[in-house]
Amino acid sequence: MTDDREVDGVPRVAAFKTVAEFKAHLATLPIPLDCDDEVLPPEDGPLARPITVYGKTVGNRFATHPMEGWDGTLDGKPTDLVLRRWTHFGLSGAKLIWGGEAVAVRWDGRANPNQLYYCEDNRTALATLLPALKAAHREQCGTTDDLVAGLQLTHSGRWSRPDPDHKPRPRIAYRHPVTDARAGVADDRAVFTDGELADLVGDYVAAARFAAESGYDFVDVKCCHGYLLHEFLSAYTRPGPYGGSFENRTRLFREIVAAIRRDVPELHIAVRLSAFDLVPFAHPKPGEGTRGVPIDYRPYLPWRYGFGLNPDDPVTMDLTEPVAFLRLCRDLGIRLINISAGSPYYNPHLVRPAIFPPSDGYPPPEDPLTGCARLIDVAKRLKRSVPELTVVGTGYTYLQEYLPYVAQAQVRLGHVDLVGLGRMLLPYPELPHHILTGRPLDRKRLCRTFSDCTTGPRNRMVSGCYPLDPFYKARPEAPIIHEIRRKAGR
Ligand SMILES: Cc1cc2nc3c(=O)[nH]c(=O)nc-3n(C[C@H](O)[C@H](O)[C@H](O)COP(=O)(O)O)c2cc1C
Ligand code: SF4
Repeated sequence: MTDDREVDGVPRVAAFKTVAEFKAHLATLPIPLDCDDEVLPPEDGPLARPITVYGKTVGNRFATHPMEGWDGTLDGKPTDLVLRRWTHFGLSGAKLIWGGEAVAVRWDGRANPNQLYYCEDNRTALATLLPALKAAHREQCGTTDDLVAGLQLTHSGRWSRPDPDHKPRPRIAYRHPVTDARAGVADDRAVFTDGELADLVGDYVAAARFAAESGYDFVDVKCCHGYLLHEFLSAYTRPGPYGGSFENRTRLFREIVAAIRRDVPELHIAVRLSAFDLVPFAHPKPGEGTRGVPIDYRPYLPWRYGFGLNPDDPVTMDLTEPVAFLRLCRDLGIRLINISAGSPYYNPHLVRPAIFPPSDGYPPPEDPLTGCARLIDVAKRLKRSVPELTVVGTGYTYLQEYLPYVAQAQVRLGHVDLVGLGRMLLPYPELPHHILTGRPLDRKRLCRTFSDCTTGPRNRMVSGCYPLDPFYKARPEAPIIHEIRRKAGR
């Protein structure tokens, strides 16, 4: 049942009338979530307090998460749509820019034919993004002296679809009993050979050099969401020097970090990590209820295909190795970490809590607030385990009206250093600026997690907030996406 107050028994966040009501609901969830009763005036509030990262001042506690738009040119250059999104990141007032969006380090590492990628020919076009972002930020906040920006570097691995035909061209760390079929892996030819990995390290270095020369403070060596470097962390079944032991599974990551340090020593390194994973989820079968469910993983136990989970019970996380990985990062001199989880391809409820699934998703297996609480709790536990790290948290957009209350509590209590925002910035980029200047939130612009920004790309259209951003509402894709949603009964 869907009405103004709830969707299939899950109360809508917008239906809570007060913080007290919201907190009373939080108290019924299986994972506790700290939430303040009031948002302090900006001058007294923890969210406005600067923090030092790599010797540079970050002027407040908001970060923009990387948000790709499936809207570059077919040869990997930015379009006006990309520029608009980056300009909005600048306007947000957030003082840490985490990556802008995932930029592939080479052609075959693109997750879609419109993803940006680094190559010599794309340098000039890619170099326009950061100045545009900074100009917007300067206009909004007066200065960029306390703005720190990084570029997210990736190889999409299993989820690569680099060519204009949109066909999967997976490059993987190891064969997977469940996701091989979905990712189009037919045989072992998709597996990266040990020899091929040396070239890949060189590609990361070239892209990192470009980032340094273009004025970025850091690069994110992306290890999340099922993409290649995340997959290597769970390459238990891969033979040879890049699989099996923790040391081997982290070898490629360490080689990339060492090579960037050697060749681009002035550049800092950060990591976005999927700190835990679970098995893939799917639509329920008849008789299984109305919520998304884990696939039947029993034939594959112990589950050796995920990082940060219990192989004997792969619907339960286990943070032992993620903590070891973060200690490794610390020992490698990496200080900036962004905690995410899972993968948008096979368990999106972990990484993007939403009340409405994207077109290739499944109905939420839980109240999405539990998803927020889980992500926020994991960031807290990891920060506590490796306190030397500056930790950016994920999972805040779905909090909607109560985002400032929870964000303030998490920073105030030292559970996290910065609060990262993804989808919320698509319809409402100025939200951090509004919080930091004590303005009331514009409720009509709050992301309500309709997931159209994912449904668009899954149906070969550009991403954007079609329901709420007037710019995307007016685009020709909007009625098509609306129709897809209507047919799905949402
Ligand atoms: C349209 C879209 C594009 C995204 N692109 C990226 C990306 O390029 N890199 C990345 O690490 N995460 C990406 N994400 C994940 C977000 O950065 C973020 O982790 C996620 O949306 C959860 O945060 P939120 O609840 O604030 O939206 C994307 C998410 C969406 C919905
Ligand atoms: S389409 Fe807009 S409202 Fe829906 S999830 Fe994306 S940003 Fe939020």
